[in-house]
Amino acid sequence: MNIVVVKTLIHSVCLAWLGIEYYQAITDSGIADPVEQVIHFTGKGALNLVIFTLMLTPLARFFKTNKPILVRRLMGLYAFFYAALHLLSFFAFELAFNFNLLMQELVERPYIWVGAGAFIILFALAVTSFHKAKKLLKKRWQSVHNLIYLGVLLAWLHFFWSRKADLLEPGMYLAVILLLLALRWKKIARIFTLKNTK
Ligand code: HEM
Repeated sequence: MNIVVVKTLIHSVCLAWLGIEYYQAITDSGIADPVEQVIHFTGKGALNLVIFTLMLTPLARFFKTNKPILVRRLMGLYAFFYAALHLLSFFAFELAFNFNLLMQELVERPYIWVGAGAFIILFALAVTSFHKAKKLLKKRWQSVHNLIYLGVLLAWLHFFWSRKADLLEPGMYLAVILLLLALRWKKIARIFTLKNTK
């Protein structure tokens, strides 16, 4: 399939889905808790998009084509966009931009700190995803982008921790994440043994 068509499809799905969710929440169309609905939708969307992004390199290797790599940056940016809306929806709709409430939430819901860690990583990856940043950071660019492995684990921990009951879904997500990390075990082992800094 033509890459322009694939990119248009990614834009359409990511934006249309968001539009429908926010429209339903704003127009209050029969949803029990619209605020919770958008927070959960954007959070889950961000995590799913990070996982899809991590699937692209193994797919490219398996099918011996660079096509999945051509949409990797776009998918990563959508993961960040969803995460930014997740954070913004929480701060705007649940806390009404009240900093005192935010302080209270940070004490009562420690998993928010973990989510913030994942968000900072996604932010760093998004701002360094441009060609200019790649040229500027040179060898360090790869080290920055290796943070995605920590980011996906933090995002999962945040998800798991936020779920009081129902551990089946987070368990399934963990299995997929561990499989994706296992497919990169050589690279991850190099990061830990710092062999790549030679
Ligand atoms: C400062 C950053 C963040 C804040 C303040 C935040 C806040 C929250 C809150 C309040 C919830 C709802 C928990 C509940 O209903 O009990 C939640 C759930 C969730 N968040 Fe975040 N989050 C942040 C970052 C992230 C990031 C970066 C990701 C993913 C990449 C993420 C993924 C999720 C997921 C998957 C859920 C569970 C949704 C569900 O149960 O359906 N969050 N977050």
